[in-house]
Order: sequence, then C-alpha cells, then structure tokens
Amino acid sequence: MTRVLRGEATERRPLWMMRQAGRYLPEYRALRTEARDFLAFCLNPEMASEASLQPLRRFGFDGAILFADILLIPWALGVPLHFEEGRGPVLQPVQSVESLQALRGADAVLEALEPVCQTLRLLAPQVKDATLIGFAGAPWTVATYVVEGHGSPDQAAAKLWAYRDPQGFARLIDLLTDATSLYLIAQAEAGAEALQIFESWAQGLPESVFAQWCIEPTARIVSRVKARFPSLPIIGFPRGCGSLLQDYVRGTGVDAVGLDTAQSIAQARGQVPGHVAMQGNLDPLALIAGGEALDVEVARILRGFTGAPHVFNLGHGILPQTPIAHVERLVELVRNGTR
Ligand code: CP3
Repeated sequence: MTRVLRGEATERRPLWMMRQAGRYLPEYRALRTEARDFLAFCLNPEMASEASLQPLRRFGFDGAILFADILLIPWALGVPLHFEEGRGPVLQPVQSVESLQALRGADAVLEALEPVCQTLRLLAPQVKDATLIGFAGAPWTVATYVVEGHGSPDQAAAKLWAYRDPQGFARLIDLLTDATSLYLIAQAEAGAEALQIFESWAQGLPESVFAQWCIEPTARIVSRVKARFPSLPIIGFPRGCGSLLQDYVRGTGVDAVGLDTAQSIAQARGQVPGHVAMQGNLDPLALIAGGEALDVEVARILRGFTGAPHVFNLGHGILPQTPIAHVERLVELVRNGTR
C-alpha cells in the first residue's frame, strides 16, 4: 500500500476501511466494555493496539489504522471532553479568545498523547505486511467540534466566529495547526508509515473559507511533517469538498487524497495530478445493503480507477450496523480484481 500512496498504479488494489476498528465488530464491542469510557480506551495502549489489530485479523486489510480519535488534540490542550452513548462527543465550547487563553500551549499534546504514540510502538512490530496509518483531524474539522461543543450539521458556530472575528478564530486554528503538526511528527517517530488528515467537514464552505481555513492550515502541517519525514506519505480526506478537490490537492501538497462517496471518479482523475494517489470511495450504505448493489458498486470503482494509483476504501467511515458478511464479500471482490 505504501508504494501506491507514493503514486504507483498496481493491478492488485490495496484495501482498508475508514473506521475499520469499531462497533460493527463483536470483538470490538466486547473489548470496549472493559474500558471505563471511550477516552480511557483510546489512552490505554494495550487496548487501543488490540482494537487496531482486530479488523486485520479478520479481513487481512493492507492498512492498519491507529485506534484513537481526532478529538484527543483538543482534550490534550485542556478542553473538557466526554463521549455520550448515542450522542457522540461533548466538549466545553471554546468561542472566544479569552477561553482560548485558558488552554495549554501546543507542546502539551506531546506529553498528554504519549500513550497514543505508545500504541503505535506496540503496533509497529505486529502489523508486518500492512501499512501502519497514523492520523489526526484537520484544524478546521476539529475546530467545528471545539467551537460548537459537539457535532453539528452545518458547522454554524465555527463559521460565525470565523466570519465575525477572523483574527480571533485564526488563533484557534493556529493552535490546532501547531499541536497537530507536533502530534503527527511524534506519530511518525513512533512508527506510523503513513498519515491521514481527516477533514470530515469540508462540505458547504465557500471557496474563500475553504482556502483560508482548510487548505492553508493543512498545507502548513504537511510541510512541517515533510521537513522531518520527506518520504512519509500523507493522505488528505477533504470530505464534501466537491469541485474544490483540485485546489485542495494542489494547495496542501498531500501525496494521496481520499474521495468521498459523492466524488466522480472520472472528474477526480481529470483533476488530481497522476502522481497523487486516490483513495475511496464506496458508499458505506452500499456496504450495508450488500447483494447486487455492492457487487456493482465495487466493480464500478475498481474499473474507474484502472491504471491510476488507487487504494480501495469507503467514501466515509463504516457504519455500526454493517453486516460482517458484507465486509467479507467486499474483500473477496477487491482481491479478485476487475475480472
Ligand atoms: O478504525 C478507525 O478508523 C480508527 C479510529 C477512529 C475513531 N475515530 C474511533 C472512534 C478514527 C480514525 C476516528 C476519526 C474521527 N473521530 C472522525 C473523522 C472521521 C469521520 O468519521 O468523519 C471524527 C469526526 C471523529 C469524532 C467522533 N468520535 C465522533 C463524531 C464520534 C461519535 C460518532 C460515532 O461514530 O460514535 C466519535 C466516537 C468514536 N471514535 C467511536 C470510535 C470507534 C465510537 C465510540 C465507541 O466505540 O464507543
């Protein structure tokens, strides 16, 4: 998979799934009950490394993603965080420069997130054939949770702060950019062989906002990681960026780009330079549906990327209600290739 991420087109497509460690697996649900809460789970290197390995054992994926969460960075910076059953993450909202001043400096992530690096050190000797993938959220996406205090359908709180007080909001983005750069470099030092930056909330942004708050901070992270690890592949996943894909790829300098379910493969191939790998983009709901729909969609995606550097993945994370038999079918279809 690392070769494909560096731009080599292969007949056999490497395969992994975003959110592949998770609740659709009975062994994950069993392990999860052993932790006090989700945060304690992420910060326990033995448990977290076990969660990363579970999907590899079952399906033999080509990528092993670190088990952690994008919201560990704000937590490490001092934003109170907990995960509520059925509701998701809840943070104490940061909506002013005053509340920003109460947070820790970017360096604080190194100590607070040392257990996550330890998870990578435990995983590195165990993943062997698979590529060990570290990750972080992109500053804009993380900011949408930090400002709102929870997930939101329209990212209104972050957008409003950014429009009303761009200088104040820039201080939050800068802090997240600095912390994320340090954290990803530490992940690479601990053994990550590729890094993914999740920009899960790129959707619905005007071009100007997208350039300033998505592309520019991500470009800074990429150039800092590259200064230390020049050949480590970085995958950007600008979910919902639509027609701004080309700007994202050129502007950030990522080596590979994750395409969400709605991206046209033909258009993406026309816009993304040939040496930039593409990852995606099966609809997670087609994976739940299975049957004919799954077979048809997988074949279409394999065909669509023929001759291009392509890592097979979903267009967004796997959903908890996904039947395991459908994941097995997906693996079989991708392994058997286009014929
Ligand atoms: O398998 C993997 O991909 C590795 C681990 C991983 C998790 N979260 C574990 C997790 C990764 C890469 C993430 C990324 C993440 N976290 C994103 C970006 C990707 C995306 O889906 O857009 C976002 C936005 C988050 C924030 C987050 N964490 C939310 C909104 C939620 C609640 C929604 C949900 O799926 O429950 C979480 C919780 C979370 N993170 C779970 C897992 C396995 C479920 C909690 C549990 O098991 O109790």
